[in-house]
Amino acid sequence: MQVFKKASQAKLKEVARRQASPPNNHRQGLTQLLQNKIKRLNFWKNRLSILLEYGQRAATMTDLDELLVILVEEAKTVLNADRATVFLVDKKKRTLWSKVAIGTETIRIPMDKGIAGSVVGTGRLLNIKEVYKDPRFNPEIDKKTGYRTRSILAAPLRNKKKEVIGVFQVLNRKGSANFDNQDEEVLTLLADQASGVVENAQLYQEIRKTAYETIIRLAGAAEYKDHDTKAHLWRVAQYSGILAEELGFPKEWVENIKMAAPMHDIGKIGVPDSIINKPGKLDPSEWEEMKKHPLYGSEILKDPENELMQMSASIALNHHEKWDGKGYPRGMKGEEIPIEARIASLADVFDALTTKRSYKPAFSLEETVAIIESESGKQFDPKVVAAFQHCYPKIAAVRENYRGQNDEPTPSAVPPEEN
Ligand code: C2E
Ligand code: SIN
Ligand code: SIN
Ligand code: FE
Repeated sequence: MQVFKKASQAKLKEVARRQASPPNNHRQGLTQLLQNKIKRLNFWKNRLSILLEYGQRAATMTDLDELLVILVEEAKTVLNADRATVFLVDKKKRTLWSKVAIGTETIRIPMDKGIAGSVVGTGRLLNIKEVYKDPRFNPEIDKKTGYRTRSILAAPLRNKKKEVIGVFQVLNRKGSANFDNQDEEVLTLLADQASGVVENAQLYQEIRKTAYETIIRLAGAAEYKDHDTKAHLWRVAQYSGILAEELGFPKEWVENIKMAAPMHDIGKIGVPDSIINKPGKLDPSEWEEMKKHPLYGSEILKDPENELMQMSASIALNHHEKWDGKGYPRGMKGEEIPIEARIASLADVFDALTTKRSYKPAFSLEETVAIIESESGKQFDPKVVAAFQHCYPKIAAVRENYRGQNDEPTPSAVPPEEN
């Protein structure tokens, strides 16, 4: 391992040196290009490590949906209410949104209507005993849901800057009594508690999203131009996540592999563009150069401080190893190859096969699946191939939705918007 690292470090320097001399214009252009690439790479890598320092817990903390459901259940029990809802402000769309249960559709209401809208406007708690007698009440939701609201107790959620970021409301106190002063105090406490966790979750989600975009930029800084890099990276991330989920890995691990997988080919930055972009087959010496990209990649990504970067380096180093031991750079076999690399390898090859490269046309989905199945136990871990077969509909859906500009036949926007 150590030997490989030393060797690859020396090699990277050597590549740079060889490209630097002899000093004719062509060579100079290449060096400048490589230096610029390395500069950009370092810029994005620094940025990423700062983001990751803040965002380490992001994967487990960002699950807003789950969090909201827990808060709502708590409120219903404590306040003896028939229903409870946390609405969050969407400033851009000027609406309040909520999810009633995990996996259900988001509901949206206008930000300036109804009791909840009024709480957003004034920032004050409201305790309405008979809502149908209150002109602020918006009966539209009852009409849609068929639910009959009698009483509403609603309190604002505020962020640290004291801006209103949402509304916590409980409906229809059970039994005959109305929500009283004590209930108002309790809901105010619950709303404060909710504000804290919601704000944290939103911040972490933001950091995760930024880290994700940074990773795509970092990986894209290698700029191999034979295909639509950005779309390829998005898809490999999604395929890897789907496979990991199918294989039963925990959510946090799944989130990590989705972030780590797009960096697998970052070491191609150390391989001359003329080889990367060669339209036809590589000659033996070019192939020898190409086979070094896993070593370069692990060299660039290694970072013992950070779990995600360790996984990235492991994937970069091992994504061309094969289950039967005939891969490179080390010819590892079976379960010696880290599982994250066995997963990312199938994801990468699936995408390489279904898209056009400078050296090959795109294969159809049918041909691709046939190749992957025929490589079970040879190139790929049979367990990963079985997982691929199980979750194939999800994989095909990603393929359909995340097309890049250069990928036949219908171009559409990439990357996709989250939420
Ligand atoms: P890549 O284009 O991203 O391809 C990744 C992997 O997908 C390949 O790893 C291989 O396992 C699989 N793959 C791609 N095309 C085919 C195919 O037509 N048939 C089959 N069965 N598998 C395919 P591999 O072979 O280790 O190559 C690593 C990288 O080396 C490739 O990344 C590409 O950048 C480059 N490369 C490989 N062969 C050629 C070539 O003939 N010409 C050029 N210009 N580059 C090549
Ligand atoms: C993901 O689907 O988790 C990656 C996208 C993102 O975090 O924004
Ligand atoms: C997540 O699903 O964990 C967050 C997605 C995002 O960052 O947009
Ligand atoms: Fe590769």
